[in-house]
Amino acid sequence: MASAVGVRQLVRYWVREVLGGAAHRRRLRRLGIDVDSVPLSRLGLDPRRAHNHAYSGGPDLERVLRDLPIGPDDAVLDVGCGKGGALLTLARFPFGVLAGFDLSQEMLDVARRNLDLAGFARVELFAADAAVFDDYDRFTYLYMYNPFPRDVMRQAVEAMEESVRRVPRCLTVIYKNPLFHDEIVRNGLFVELRRYEHSGHPIVVYRSASPAAE
Ligand SMILES: C[S@@+](CC[C@H](N)C(=O)[O-])C[C@H]1O[C@@H](n2cnc3c(N)ncnc32)[C@H](O)[C@@H]1O
Repeated sequence: MASAVGVRQLVRYWVREVLGGAAHRRRLRRLGIDVDSVPLSRLGLDPRRAHNHAYSGGPDLERVLRDLPIGPDDAVLDVGCGKGGALLTLARFPFGVLAGFDLSQEMLDVARRNLDLAGFARVELFAADAAVFDDYDRFTYLYMYNPFPRDVMRQAVEAMEESVRRVPRCLTVIYKNPLFHDEIVRNGLFVELRRYEHSGHPIVVYRSASPAAE
């Protein structure tokens, strides 16, 4: 009996996680949307400052977003947006503002094409380096998919914290493949809210524990 339940769960998992993900990528390809991975060497980026491009939009991210109270007053920024793959999923939720930045102009050019093809021309894209970027004040949600190494993450988190101190608000950080989880929670300003274990990389949701935002 227990093993029959186990098999059923396995089949459900396979259909949802594996077939669902593959079908999603096929749909994107049919639309002419390119979310293929690109190695760091091809992007010409310094491995001390950047990780390579890989796509993280689709059903896993959608499940996380469905659990969050997203509305038209919310503004989301994909920190290291790459080809805009995660933004394609974020744009299906009722954010008032959607934006992304990347270190690579090549990735931003592909992102623009992808988002326009999908009918999301209103998504703002710009070039910036997360190691020095500090313009987080207008955002209530940040998204990251393991975009850069520890040193850059530390600088980025400091700028995010500074922004919450300057403009007290509830800032939600969604971090996929959270290799540097410890950097996010280090100073106690961000606390882990939820963790989603997926077939691939986990996604963790953090929220700023700002008293003014309670
Ligand atoms: C793993 S990809 C994620 C792409 C997209 N967010 C997604 O989930 O589909 C990471 C991206 O971060 C960018 N990146 C790496 N280091 C960066 C930095 N220091 N500042 C801004 N972007 C950076 C890379 O160029 C790459 O496109």
